[in-house]
Amino acid sequence: RVKLPAYNSVDDAVELIKKSSNIIVLTGAGISTSLGIPDFRSAGTGLYSKLAHLDLNDPQEVFDISKFRENPKIFYSVARDLITDEPRTTPTHAFIALLQQKGKLLTNYSQNIDNIEATAGILPEKLVQCHGSFATASCIECRYQVPGTTIYPSIRAEKIPQCPRCIERLQTSKTSHPMKRKRSSNGQKKKKKRFDGVSDSDSEGTYDIPEPGVMKPDITFFGEPLPDRFSDRLTNHDKDKVDLVIVIGTSLKVAPVSEVVPFLPPHIPQMYISREPVSHVNFDVDMLGDCDVVVAELCERAGWELKHEMIPKD
Ligand code: OAD
Repeated sequence: RVKLPAYNSVDDAVELIKKSSNIIVLTGAGISTSLGIPDFRSAGTGLYSKLAHLDLNDPQEVFDISKFRENPKIFYSVARDLITDEPRTTPTHAFIALLQQKGKLLTNYSQNIDNIEATAGILPEKLVQCHGSFATASCIECRYQVPGTTIYPSIRAEKIPQCPRCIERLQTSKTSHPMKRKRSSNGQKKKKKRFDGVSDSDSEGTYDIPEPGVMKPDITFFGEPLPDRFSDRLTNHDKDKVDLVIVIGTSLKVAPVSEVVPFLPPHIPQMYISREPVSHVNFDVDMLGDCDVVVAELCERAGWELKHEMIPKD
């Protein structure tokens, strides 16, 4: 990538933002940490550094779809740290909403699953939740979908939420076909777990009593495709319109989102706001520090009022 000249001060960044009208804002977990929601990879405080007790080969297995099918308990033992149903936002979310209000936001590509962008008022058409969110949850067997908050009580209790439609169907089939159930040789009904979605074949004289499917928040797990809207919007809508990219609070470690910046035309200025620098992407401007502080400073220098309860009033 050709390094663009001259963008090397905070004032250059302010000028770039002021003159741009189609800004892509690409966000990660760092924009929500000031609400007490952990990011993933920060040493000591990130979710992945707190999972030693789970004895995983790789902490990312918490979000691995095949592991979830084998044993959803792993995910549900940590999920409660990731949810919030308080309608709170951070100054950084307010900054993205301010860009939208000023007609400058082309798209917010968010890797976050906390759905706080919606609370901040980012319009659905301008938001791509690249890794899905907790806003809805679906049964991994029958795909029945419910509002995400429906499963929050189970998540808080570290219980595995089961599909209400599967439960209802099973109850109906129990009452309508009571005689169909065979019993094993000792007269006990045989019950099998089928978290992997595959019914084991029976030994003779037994009958699998299916269990209801497990509900999973509509988060994109490793091994699942990203929503189509991600590449559709990037390729067919944004690529030829974008005039500035602002990346905030992400380590850019997970593809394909990490490939967005190099995918865009090289003449588009790109700035990075986060606590730590990244070495694998070459940004025109790096503004290292707490993102809430950085965006407040940018707004002040731009002469914009960034209203948020966490920003002290003069
Ligand atoms: P990471 O935890 O990898 O990166 C967060 C970055 O934000 C780190 O570089 C932190 O230093 C920085 N950071 C934290 N708090 C900050 C603050 N207040 N101000 C500025 N910077 C701050 O999280 P992501 O890059 O979002 O996938 O992770 C990407 C994906 O990996 C996630 O979407 C998740 C995970 O596996 C799924 O959940 C499927």
